Amino acid sequence: MSYRKSRAGSEQTAKKGAPQKAIPLTSLHEKDLLTLETLSVSEIELILRTAESMKEVLSRPVPRVPALLDKTVVLLFYEPSTRTRASFELAAKALSANVSSLQVAASSFKKGESLKDAARTLEAIGADAIVIRHDAAGAPELVAKSVKGSVINAGDGRHAHPTQGLLDLLTVRERKGDIRGQKIAIVGDIAHSRVARSNIWGFSKLGAEVIVVAPKPYIPMGIESMPVRVSHNLDEILPEVDVLYLLRIQLERGAGDWLPSIEEYVRFYGITTERMGRAKKGVIVMHPGPINRGVEIESAVADGPYTVILDQVQNGVAVRMATLYLLLGGEKNATLELN
Ligand code: CP
Repeated sequence: MSYRKSRAGSEQTAKKGAPQKAIPLTSLHEKDLLTLETLSVSEIELILRTAESMKEVLSRPVPRVPALLDKTVVLLFYEPSTRTRASFELAAKALSANVSSLQVAASSFKKGESLKDAARTLEAIGADAIVIRHDAAGAPELVAKSVKGSVINAGDGRHAHPTQGLLDLLTVRERKGDIRGQKIAIVGDIAHSRVARSNIWGFSKLGAEVIVVAPKPYIPMGIESMPVRVSHNLDEILPEVDVLYLLRIQLERGAGDWLPSIEEYVRFYGITTERMGRAKKGVIVMHPGPINRGVEIESAVADGPYTVILDQVQNGVAVRMATLYLLLGGEKNATLELN
């Protein structure tokens, strides 16, 4: 196993000498990926560039490279997941890593083992990276402080979902050419959403304008400290936005009780074919999934020409490959042409 602690990356070197633009970053500064809030623009750009190279790998007849042949990745999901978990597993396998997906319900967590002890145990038996999803905000940070290897946050409580944010950035960049100058409306249950928080940081760092659109109960306290505009009127902002990013109401976090009725929510915030007729030309509709058809999005819109939901899911594999590759030093085994 080889571990890299917090890194003195090439961006810092670049600041001292030649202009920063002349020396592209080749690695991330930290050993972990916990949030987009603390990543630099150069680091985000590096991950996106690397993900583009990973898409080329995935398009090959044999979509696999030996970059992480000597590494072991453990998936530790304390909350349900379809997209994130499957794409991390596929990503690790495409890089030739050993992958172990822990069945938390059948693990010693049920016998009272702490997260810290579980993480140390996994490291002792060979984990070079732990990918963790947990319902408690801050759980991945706790694990990151407890182990020498890399920790990737696959979603923690309402706090952050950085790889979701990165795959969304990649998807918008592919569709729109550039993120700078785009108007992104994030619509729905912002208060309970880690995806919203990661996307607010990601999109605003890359120069987009972010508007959060929701009824008052779904706007979180402290929103004024984030780089966003707040609106309660979807119909008013609809004609001006380039991206409609929809969120589901997080019933598992009690969000259903925060509104008078779901029907009323649908009337004012549901994306229907009729509403799309009043949207800006070229608008795209995004959603992190899982979607609730007939609530935040009408079925005809979900399956219609505006949506890029399956592109987001596909880009998830490439972005997670890029993250694992960069954090685990995959360039030692397989050099990829970075654009
Ligand atoms: N977007 C997302 O995190 O989906 P899953 O819960 O299926 O992983």
